[in-house]
Amino acid sequence: MRLQLAAWPEVENYLKTSSSIIIPIGSTEQHGPNGLIGTDAICPTAIAYELEEKIEVLIGPTLAVGMAQHHLGFPGSIAFRPSTLLAVVRDVVESLTGQGFTHIYFLNGHGGNVATVTAAFSEIWSISSFAGSEAPPPCLRLRNWYLGPRVNRLSDELYGDAEGSHATPSEVSLSWYAYPEAVKDVALSPELAPKGAIRDAADYRRQFPDGRIGSNPGLASIEHGRRILEAAVGDTLEDFNLFIQTNTER
Ligand code: NI
Repeated sequence: MRLQLAAWPEVENYLKTSSSIIIPIGSTEQHGPNGLIGTDAICPTAIAYELEEKIEVLIGPTLAVGMAQHHLGFPGSIAFRPSTLLAVVRDVVESLTGQGFTHIYFLNGHGGNVATVTAAFSEIWSISSFAGSEAPPPCLRLRNWYLGPRVNRLSDELYGDAEGSHATPSEVSLSWYAYPEAVKDVALSPELAPKGAIRDAADYRRQFPDGRIGSNPGLASIEHGRRILEAAVGDTLEDFNLFIQTNTER
């Protein structure tokens, strides 16, 4: 069930038998010359919607803006500061836990979100720690779809080192599969983008002039996207099932 297509009595009813929710979280940022700006939000959303076909689960709204300050040198990128994203995640979690949700699973599409979302979890748990509360804490998990074992095996097989770390052929393929009408046929030069460390926006654009890091998304295809989606759904299903079994004896 998709939260945004549900009415509140349906959610109240859902909570009688389940207290978990999946929230796709991504970013709105440049993904090189042929990658969609929405890639990091589109990919986890597509995976979550596919999962919804297979199991009874509630899918929350996608958090489509993330911690992406380093991409702001490219037009179209929108970012939250770490402190803003931390507050957003905390407010989302506390909205839901107040209604009886116990397991909140963030399905993430953007590496830049990891440190901040993890810090938000610590912030949320620290509230009851400092209060000396004995109430069970919410179960929170951040899962990066692109690091699942099936996805990694497949991207290794399809792209090897050309997967790189930003604007990867895997994520570009998956976003193209979700939106075939948005496929961009653009020549990439050099084919394989440079590698390096991420700092601020101006430095990023100097080091990685077309926005990619270490990747060759010229290898991306819609057909690959179909296979990557299938692998990602398998990884997520396995991981989510384990997650909802933790601390359910309340
Ligand atoms: Ni990305």
